[in-house]
Amino acid sequence: MSFTAALRSAYAKPLAHLLCLVPLAALLWAAFDDGLGANPVERLTHETGQWTLRFLLLTLSMTPLRQWTGLAAWIRFRRLLGLYTFFYLACHFMIWFIADHSLDVIAMGEDIIKRPYITLGFSALLLMLPLAITSNQAMIRRLGKKWKSLHQLVYLILSLGVLHFIWLVKADYLEPTIYAIIAVVLLLHRAGPMKRFSLRSSPAAR
Ligand code: HEM
Repeated sequence: MSFTAALRSAYAKPLAHLLCLVPLAALLWAAFDDGLGANPVERLTHETGQWTLRFLLLTLSMTPLRQWTGLAAWIRFRRLLGLYTFFYLACHFMIWFIADHSLDVIAMGEDIIKRPYITLGFSALLLMLPLAITSNQAMIRRLGKKWKSLHQLVYLILSLGVLHFIWLVKADYLEPTIYAIIAVVLLLHRAGPMKRFSLRSSPAAR
């Protein structure tokens, strides 16, 4: 089976779901196997934060991949990846809300005001809510052109997520820098100048 046929196959989406659930399964496995280290909450917060960012970058890579490879089938995975981004973000947020603030909304609000990196992360979460709610066919039809404009917010969310990471690290900037570079490439692609590298019109890319 060719790569294009594999991307289009009926098994591709169930397989993608399984792959997206692997990080969750690994974390649950580690939690039940006493494998989260000395500070399990910190480890869970960090892992879910990293997976949120990875899924966000993957989601935003689908359009450039379509343009660079000429394969429209990549777009089939965009919504699925976007919803897993939201899922890991919701886990990331809930771990912090429960472990750090015991579901106390007032304490949570004070922390959001007090710590700038939390302000950035929380803003990204608020902005992602309408995107998650409108990620179904009925809303796409109902909102028409407005849907596309609304979903451009994802680039602001990405910028906030990367800044949130850069702001919170105290010493080793390597990881956030790698994420930031990928984010800048995707933002530049969105802005236009890299579109000339598109292989879309090249039959050899199909
Ligand atoms: C799109 C939104 C977000 C992204 C992409 C994101 C991503 C990340 C990443 C990559 C880390 C660091 C992981 C590591 O050090 O290995 C992190 C840590 C953290 N995030 Fe988020 N996050 C987001 C939203 C939020 C929200 C909404 C909250 C809570 C309101 C939050 C609270 C935290 C906390 C408390 C940490 C750990 C900070 C520490 O090391 O002391 N994040 N996040």
